[in-house]
Amino acid sequence: MSWFAPLKLSAKFNLIMSCLLITLFLAAAFFTYRREQTLILKVAVDNARNIAKQIIETRDYISSVVRGEPAENYALVPQVVATQVAKRMTRDTKYYVRQVSLRYRNPANSPDAFETEQLKKFAGKTVKESYKVVEVNGKRVFRYMQSMVAEKSCLECHGAYDLAPLFIRKRFPRGHYSYNYKLGEVIGAVSVMVPMSELYREIGANLKADLIYRGSIFLVIILIMGTLVRRTIINPIKMLSESIIQVTRTGSFADRLPKRSNDEIGQLITAFNDMMEELERKIEQSRESEDRYRKFIEIAKSAVVTFMQDGKIVIANQKAEELLGLSRRELLGESVFNFFENVERLRDEVSAYLRIGEEREVPPPVTLQRVRNVKGFVHVVEVAISVTRTDHQPMITAILREMSNEG
Ligand code: HEC
Repeated sequence: MSWFAPLKLSAKFNLIMSCLLITLFLAAAFFTYRREQTLILKVAVDNARNIAKQIIETRDYISSVVRGEPAENYALVPQVVATQVAKRMTRDTKYYVRQVSLRYRNPANSPDAFETEQLKKFAGKTVKESYKVVEVNGKRVFRYMQSMVAEKSCLECHGAYDLAPLFIRKRFPRGHYSYNYKLGEVIGAVSVMVPMSELYREIGANLKADLIYRGSIFLVIILIMGTLVRRTIINPIKMLSESIIQVTRTGSFADRLPKRSNDEIGQLITAFNDMMEELERKIEQSRESEDRYRKFIEIAKSAVVTFMQDGKIVIANQKAEELLGLSRRELLGESVFNFFENVERLRDEVSAYLRIGEEREVPPPVTLQRVRNVKGFVHVVEVAISVTRTDHQPMITAILREMSNEG
């Protein structure tokens, strides 16, 4: 995941959200597709069952009402009527309907391999219908069959040869296998077919519309979530980090951030603002105390010099200017050791003080030292030193009280 870590927060968020939503989207699409497939199969079965039922009812009705009319008009033979009705019913659809029998009179009604198999099943057992998706010439086809049994009226033409109407006997001679059915025996079946591509076309269209619809919803969700996260999390954090960079660059603690919420981010911003305030106050305090200190040493009767451990002067009062013969600006940065005749003694004094100074409760002993100013004048001064620590760096303050002048 080395490529992931350096990404920006918003990029990470968008990436994670997109992955999640795409997975969700694909899963949803898959289940929709599966559901639609099941549904379409159920619809196909229902349709086929209805078609078969209507055809069977039509034939039963015609068979029960005809009284020799078919002898005059062959178009009134129940089978012929049912075939015509089926044709008209399925005219504008991709459904294809036949009525078949193992012992057919019309070769057009001879069953194909699938139909033969089902008819044999129907003849033997109590099964009345069957359906299956089969492959025909490389194409998947939905097939449905429902059996027809011989009723009393059917036996008039499908029973014994001797009882059949004359026109039947003329067409189908004695011994033809379409005679001699018994009551309740399976005489044939309605066979319905519809290409699966037709059914899939419907699902496909739905699925496409569904995908576009869901896809746009997911896109809107990603956009809204992205904007929300950017506004509530990413932007405030960015603001905070820019502000911190600004502080380290300028040293100014004046910056305050606007607080827009009361959540964790809001708390973070409050904490940041409080911290800035506290730091600003501290800086102000130390500036004030430094000011006070300067004013205080200004009115002192003695010269006061504050210097670092290496002797570099950082603060000096007017008396120190007079004593050492340099202006304050010239003094700053100068080494205090340059003015003492016995530098070693002062250094020893300072380091001794630094070693134990802070624990010492009584002030250090005052020592007499000789100070030589820039013009070569030597002054004998009483030196008292004290140490303070700022930023872990000791600062030494020396009070130099003049005892006498020497030329
Ligand atoms: C009036 C006489 C008559 C009656 C009644 C009759 N049929 Fe038929 N049936 C025929 C004739 C004739 C054919 C052949 C039709 C053709 O040429 O297409 C036929 C064909 C069929 C077929 C198609 C297979 C084949 O033999 O070509 C089935 C199935 C069938 N009849 C079932 C029935 C059933 C079930 C009934 C009772 C509800 C019935 N028939 C009543 C005369 C009759």
